[in-house]
Parts: sequence; C-alpha cells; structure tokens
Amino acid sequence: MKPNTAYGPRDWETHPPYNAPDYRSTALRSPRKPLVPIVHTLSELTGPVFGQEAVGPLDNDLTKNGARNGEPLGERIIVTGRVLDEAGRPQRNMLIEIWQANAAGRYVHTVDQHDAPLDPNFFGGGRCVTDSDGRYRFVTIKPGAYPWRNHPNAWRPNHIHLSLFGPSLLTRLVTQLYFPGDPLLAFDPIYRTVPEGARERLVSRFSLDETEPEWALGYEFDIVLRGPLETPMVD
Ligand SMILES: [Fe+2]
Repeated sequence: MKPNTAYGPRDWETHPPYNAPDYRSTALRSPRKPLVPIVHTLSELTGPVFGQEAVGPLDNDLTKNGARNGEPLGERIIVTGRVLDEAGRPQRNMLIEIWQANAAGRYVHTVDQHDAPLDPNFFGGGRCVTDSDGRYRFVTIKPGAYPWRNHPNAWRPNHIHLSLFGPSLLTRLVTQLYFPGDPLLAFDPIYRTVPEGARERLVSRFSLDETEPEWALGYEFDIVLRGPLETPMVD
C-alpha cells in the first residue's frame, strides 16, 4: 500500500537535523538508520480533539496555578499569539502546553540541581486551548537563563518550551520560544541547530499592544503548523 502523503516528510530547511554534534545529547537519541515511511492511519490523521472543557480556568496562568502562599517572584509577562496552518488559517481548539524554568533559572524537577532557588509559588507548567480565532494566551514569569553543561560555560537563553498537537498527531510540534535581543542566542547550540533562515521564527516579538499598563509586558508568538513558514521543531 502506498503511504498516505497527506503530510509530507519533514522539511530540513526549517527543522534541525536529528543529530547535531554541537548539541551533544542529540547523538544519543537520533536515529542511526534511514526512517521508513509508514501508512498514516485514520486515528493519526483525525485526532486528538480537544475542547475548551479540557482545561481549567487557571491552567493558562502560571502566576496562579502553582501559588501556595503568595505570588511567584520575577518579571510577570503575557505570551500570546495565534496558531495557523500553512495557508494562514486559524487553528481552533489546539491544545498548547508550556513548561519553563522560574525567574532564577530553575525547573521543578529532580534532575535540575542547578544552584538557584526554587520558587514555592511557581510550578512552571501550563496549558490552554486556542479560541475560534486560533489565539492562545498565557500569563507567566519571564524564565531565567540556566547552565546546562553541554560545553564549558554553556548557558541556555531565556526560553519557554511548547508542545502542540495540532489538528492531528502528525502535526505534533515541540519547540521553544525565545525573547528578542537575548545575547545568549548567538552562543546557544540548540537555537543554532535550526537552519539560519528559520531560526528567527522562534524569537517572540515584544508587543506594546499586548503589554498591560502597570502590570505585565506582552510578547507575541505565532505558531505555524506546516508550510513554508512553519515553526521549527526544537527539543
Ligand atoms: Fe529548558
């Protein structure tokens, strides 16, 4: 049976190679043999399907969803944008999940033993479902840079991890959002695994329109699933 070509193979002018020597851990997880195309099944092409009832009212507010006895420390920010397909059509009911370090650059995770404080009021994870205009919105704390031992004096730029399922399992996107003007981007092997013409798509735009006076700076980040302007995978 001929493989279904509803979704073509990954475009290597946008996405990083599976094995990028400067990003050391990719050597351990990248395939050693050419990939074998398989037939896409109906369930892979039609789901998963999420609705607004899949998320709770605080799930998109990371300044509140991990609060125990106060507000998290750090710079409060708004991150918003639209999820679009290759033709610029808004994608509604897309589940977006995010995870990130706190303002000091520390994750709530046993593997993260970086010498920086945890924040008792910040869990660092959230999710939301896009509205009828394909828009999502998170309130969070600007994540700090952190060291990661990939090479001497290696520091990750400020970033937020994102996961989207898209309209089908075959449009699953895992990537990272960065912030404009971050001096660490020039030294970051993960960001630099993305082909040069596509990597700026991962840098959010500062937006005075999304900024709320006296409260939080706003950043815009549109996510494009497939097509010539697709958002690169980064994991
Ligand atoms: Fe990270």
